[in-house]
Amino acid sequence: MIYPIVKFGNPVLEKKAEMVTVFDDELRKLIDDMFESMYAARGVGLAAPQIGISRRIAVIDVTFKEDPKAKFALINPEIIHTEGRFKQSEGCLSIPDFRENVTRPRAVSVRAQDEHGKIFELTGEELLARALQHETDHLNGKLYISHISALKRDLIKRKIRKLVKAGEW
Ligand code: NI
Repeated sequence: MIYPIVKFGNPVLEKKAEMVTVFDDELRKLIDDMFESMYAARGVGLAAPQIGISRRIAVIDVTFKEDPKAKFALINPEIIHTEGRFKQSEGCLSIPDFRENVTRPRAVSVRAQDEHGKIFELTGEELLARALQHETDHLNGKLYISHISALKRDLIKRKIRKLVKAGEW
């Protein structure tokens, strides 16, 4: 099932998501649906709040179907180590048609649970590191625009308000 993507302005995006404690078929179905929804939206990462579900689940595939080993479901992820700085253009499916340069650590390690509840650690650099941070932020109710200057953020918010008024958001 393909879920519609929730857009900026919906409070679910700015709320801390709930821990997952039950690892059952319903969760695994939701993860499959999240991958399907992410690919349908041409994204490389998706967090459950972005489909209106406030639970700590994220899916990532920075290779967009190229490499099956690069497909990760992260349940209750936590960033446990960061290194360096790296600036790159970043966007979000919930803030479509906007992009901004965001400086983040260049490499990160994450501890998470898989779809069966098994704990694992994952280290990523550059694009994967960025996706791991971006999606973990989502689960804490934080959007990438919180990492840019207030001036740039207000400009984006103003443009979005205009789009909302025009019925185009
Ligand atoms: Ni996002």
